[in-house]
Amino acid sequence: RVPVLTVDGPTASGKGTLGSALAERLGYHHLDSGALYRATALAALRQGVPAGDEAAVAAIARALPLRFENQQTLLAGEDVSDELRHEAVGSLASQIAALPAVRQALVELQLAFRRLPGLVADGRDMGTVIFPGAALKVFLTANSEQRASRRHKQLISKGISANIESLRADLEARDARDQHRSVAPLRPAEDARLLDNSALSVETSVDQVLDWWDA
Ligand code: CDP
Repeated sequence: RVPVLTVDGPTASGKGTLGSALAERLGYHHLDSGALYRATALAALRQGVPAGDEAAVAAIARALPLRFENQQTLLAGEDVSDELRHEAVGSLASQIAALPAVRQALVELQLAFRRLPGLVADGRDMGTVIFPGAALKVFLTANSEQRASRRHKQLISKGISANIESLRADLEARDARDQHRSVAPLRPAEDARLLDNSALSVETSVDQVLDWWDA
């Protein structure tokens, strides 16, 4: 049996940072499931496929030529790590993630990440849909002010200018869409541990989760 630890939560709650730190500490594989939705969105954008064409977007997701190598995300061999973080891609990802056929198309790809010695998977539905049998499920939250300011710092460090208030409005809109969609709505699994990291450092959050993991 492959041990699985899931981290779900809203946009910019720090799932990615927590997930990769945990994977590193445990020596486990890491699945950033948001990257799969983002890569599907980017591929659709490039091929001129509209977000409303569910069958066509699902076909793209099913055949996604995506690889993760040395900290890079490669789409058909091209490093798209930075492009995937663009706000336009994230916003389109959130739209196509509401399409049932697209979610279905990505299930097998996600399950394939469950390999020894173990997996840390982060996203929206890792604990509720994809890995319901996970040994530990964490639901990570932070208030929207904190999340907007973290996203702002992230963008500034990449030389992208951004406005905190509009980032906050964007992330609240995305939360609403993720929570109210009919398939895999964003919500904690019944057996999830809730972690509000608004006032916690990354190390403190990692230590808290590792305490739960060892318990
Ligand atoms: O960094 P951020 O949380 O904004 O984005 P992400 O985790 O990379 O996910 C991008 C979008 O994909 C989200 O807005 C979700 O709508 C969607 N997503 C999802 O529906 N299910 C997942 N397991 C992961 C992401």
